[in-house]
Amino acid sequence: MAGKRTFTMIKPDAVENGHIGPIIEKITSAGFKIKALKFTQMSKRDAQEFYAIHKERPFFGELVAFMTRGPIVAAILEKENAVEDFRMLIGATNPAEAAEGTIRKLFAKDIGENAVHGSDSDENATIEGAFHFSGREIF
Ligand code: RTP
Ligand code: MG
Repeated sequence: MAGKRTFTMIKPDAVENGHIGPIIEKITSAGFKIKALKFTQMSKRDAQEFYAIHKERPFFGELVAFMTRGPIVAAILEKENAVEDFRMLIGATNPAEAAEGTIRKLFAKDIGENAVHGSDSDENATIEGAFHFSGREIF
């Protein structure tokens, strides 16, 4: 059974470009409810741990530098079929391949600086949410 929660980050590029408000508006208009929310900045160690699955990839160093260069917005979101529906809403990893109207199509620059993160499974949504939020920050 598909879970009801996913985890997202509005990445440093989107924050720098003033897109926090419009992105949150797209998310809530699509029917997601905010269950946790914070403005924070990841340390190098945080980003290395968060993206550990990609540590052997050639872009890992670039990814860690990008994700730590400024603040992000982290959030836990709730909706039926949350993980899959949110990945649909954000669009393909490479914004050049993202469908019209998706968050990455609207707000992302390229495959590296792609505006938002979305969990890729229910299991990772739980792990990633717990990485950024304590129990009393989740509603
Ligand atoms: P995310 O985890 O951030 O939601 O993105 P995703 O699932 O769509 O893509 P994933 O394969 O998990 O890649 C994680 C992030 O690494 C950066 N990336 N750069 N330069 C490159 O070729 C490249 N490929 C991936 C992106 O920031 C991507 O979102
Ligand atoms: Mg991913």
